[in-house]
Formats: sequence, structure tokens, C-alpha cells
Amino acid sequence: MKLNLGIIMDGNRRWALQRGLPIVEGYRKGIQALKKTVKHSIALNINSLTIFAFSAENAGRPKSEILTLSSLLEWYLMTEITELNLQNIKFRTLGDLSFYSKRIQNLLISAEKLTEFNNKMILNLAINYGGRQDIIHAVKNITKKVINNKINIDQIDQHVINSNLMSKNISDIDLLIRTGGEKRLSNFLLWQTSYSELYLCKVPWPDFNETELEYALKEYNNRNRRFGKASTAQ
Ligand code: IPE
Ligand code: MG
Repeated sequence: MKLNLGIIMDGNRRWALQRGLPIVEGYRKGIQALKKTVKHSIALNINSLTIFAFSAENAGRPKSEILTLSSLLEWYLMTEITELNLQNIKFRTLGDLSFYSKRIQNLLISAEKLTEFNNKMILNLAINYGGRQDIIHAVKNITKKVINNKINIDQIDQHVINSNLMSKNISDIDLLIRTGGEKRLSNFLLWQTSYSELYLCKVPWPDFNETELEYALKEYNNRNRRFGKASTAQ
């Protein structure tokens, strides 16, 4: 399925709290769910999977939680990148990485390098990312180009904006899944979700699995995507 899938992995803390477990257990189980989802996406021939793992606003959470999440990210990278590479996955990150330690930044860079020529599926990990911050990035880039006479104001179109985004390599999202019951975008990819089909499910992210992914895809396949045009049936 040549589909570009986005996932907002929400509900990790609530999953843990409901079970009287420490929050870290929710995140740990969430990583297991991520591994399952990546594997199953490969099996389903998904073109790209873009994961919202940490928003720019999440950076305002308590220090201890940030440390937990950062060490889990490091652990994920250390234990999973070899496997992703063996599976022919191209791994990329999206977001302001300066927030992370040099060690994590280096892991991210080397994971991207290692998997750069892989072509089975693209896995984009959005960390410390915000859709609005991304738009600010594009506006600054374009303004510089206009000031330096590299482009003319009249040339600014969707293509120019797209190619100046931090997320310029991310394809338009066909299907966006949000777990955990909330019904919002939370500053995820704003540009690429303008015509995304939304699938909002109550299942908290740690409980997401192959079956849940298939439910979402089944529903997506029954949607009538018109992109603002009239239905062909009419
Ligand atoms: C998703 O889970 C966000 C991250 C992975 C940082 P939450 O941590 O927001 O879990 P809830 O929504 O509070 O349950
Ligand atoms: Mg949440």
C-alpha cells in the first residue's frame, strides 16, 4: 500500500496511571507498540510512517519526565537502528535536535547516515517538533531568499513553501492516526495534514497493535477522498 501514514502516539501516561504503574512503564510499553507498528507497516508495504514522539510543547514537562523520555529514545536508537537497517528502512528525524544531548544527536545523525540509501519504507521520527515552529522556519528561509534576490515574492507558491519547511522531506499524510482518545492535532505536521484522513481511536498508544492498525487502514480504504472536488459518483 503506497500510503503515507502519520501517528500521534498518545495516552502513554494515562495507560500507566490507570494501572497504578510508574509513568515510565507506559512509555516503555509505548516503545513496544512502536516496534510492532513499524514491523507491521513494513509488512503492509506502507510508504512512509511519520511518528510524533515528542512535541516542542512536551519540552515543558517536568525535568524528570524529559530525562526518562530522552533515555528511552537513546535506548530505542541503540537497540533498534541495526534492525531497522536490516529491514531496509530509511530512518529520518524531524524537529529541533539541539534540545538533546550531543550523544543522542550523534546517534540520530549516524542512524540517518547508516540508513540513508534504504528504500523499503521511510520512518520519520518527529521529536521536539512543532508545526508552527516549522512554519516560522519556512517564513524565515523564504524571507532571506527574497532579501537576497534569490526569489521574487510572486514566485512564492505551495511548492516554495513546502521546500523551505523543516519538514520538506515529509510527504503529505494520507492517514493520520491518533490514539488515546483526544481529538486534536496538537501542533503536529500542519502543512502535510491539510487533506489527511483522520482516524481517532480510544485505544491508548501502549495497547496499539497490528489489529488496531488494520482497523484504521480498513476504515481509510472505505473513505472517499475528494480533496475538495466533487465526488466522481455525482
Ligand atoms: C504521548 O503520551 C506523548 C509522548 C510520547 C511524549 P502522553 O505522555 O501524552 O500520555 P497521556 O496523554 O498523558 O496519557
Ligand atoms: Mg497526551
